Amino acid sequence: MNQERNIYVSPETRQKLACIPEETEGGEVVSGKLVDERGREYAIRDGIPALIFPPMLEGEQKETLDYYDGVADVYDDVANLSFRIQYVDEQKARRDFVKLLDLQPGSRVLELACGTGRDSEIIAGELGAEGQLYLSDISRSMLLRCKEKLRGVSVPVEFAVANACYLPFPDDYFDAVFSFGGLGVFGDIAQSLKEIVRVAKVGAKVVAGDESMPPWLYETEYGRILLNNNPLFKKAIPFEHVPVEARDVAVRWIIGGVYYLIEFVVGEGEPKADFDLEIPGRRGGTLRSRYYGRLEGVAPETYALAQRARDKSGKSMHDWLDGVVREAAKSELGDAEQAGENNDGE
Ligand SMILES: C[S@@+](CC[C@H](N)C(=O)[O-])C[C@H]1O[C@@H](n2cnc3c(N)ncnc32)[C@H](O)[C@@H]1O
Repeated sequence: MNQERNIYVSPETRQKLACIPEETEGGEVVSGKLVDERGREYAIRDGIPALIFPPMLEGEQKETLDYYDGVADVYDDVANLSFRIQYVDEQKARRDFVKLLDLQPGSRVLELACGTGRDSEIIAGELGAEGQLYLSDISRSMLLRCKEKLRGVSVPVEFAVANACYLPFPDDYFDAVFSFGGLGVFGDIAQSLKEIVRVAKVGAKVVAGDESMPPWLYETEYGRILLNNNPLFKKAIPFEHVPVEARDVAVRWIIGGVYYLIEFVVGEGEPKADFDLEIPGRRGGTLRSRYYGRLEGVAPETYALAQRARDKSGKSMHDWLDGVVREAAKSELGDAEQAGENNDGE
């Protein structure tokens, strides 16, 4: 770990962490600790800080961690199978995923659940010495293989053991965030997507994907054979957890149509629209007046009368009704009351 690239924050409190090295080699911290202002310590071993929160994982997250710690040795021997079964060239497919990030040599990139680095290598190849690549995974064993694989790349790379639901990175830092193959088992997908948006700059590109068979394949022989082997194909694309900040969202089914890749650009807050644009026509008003100006309704006869009166006035229904209600309310309230509180919240 390079101290100059210590951008880490506490995954619990988001306070900045100070680095206290014990052993260094060629300017890199091999062992030591990161410490927050309350004195909470995160150990650094083999140049990799362990920034896991919560400290004791439970349920699906614990099972996932144990599983990947257990298969790290053989992961690279079998990872290619999912692509080969689908007649897909893994390298080409992964290069296509990475292309969607629109990387520049100087981009700051975060990859979550990087595993043994099968995409990380490709991402690193798109970045130059002025770029930054932060790689994280919940499994130290997977990450150690990734570190080995990325030895000698020109972009500065940092590795951290971290839970994708509690990221140890500062707000608004990355130009691009990538994750493939882990999302479905993150435990709290909504939380991890919120975290991705938090650490990404406005305008950053996010690309994430995992298994998800579309419903039209469930009852095919193709679908049944794949589902029999891997129940994760039954996981739905987490549309309901895509953050409101997501803009230009696109989704595609890839690798035989049983994995998805979702991409979006990070925006600010909810999308904006001109809800005060006057809408021409007999109904009139604006989208805002139609939403906020809803009254309790009137009897059908009153409605028919109002329509005739509106027609006679030549106004839109909005302008006629707004005028009539305003005048009636003013005369009911009198001058003193009009000047006071005008909304009792009902
Ligand atoms: C199927 S592997 C994918 C690895 C790599 N991205 C690839 O495409 O080969 C899933 C990875 O997700 C990681 N993972 C699972 N849950 C995680 C979590 N909550 N936070 C971070 N990483 C997680 C696992 O440790 C594992 O390395």
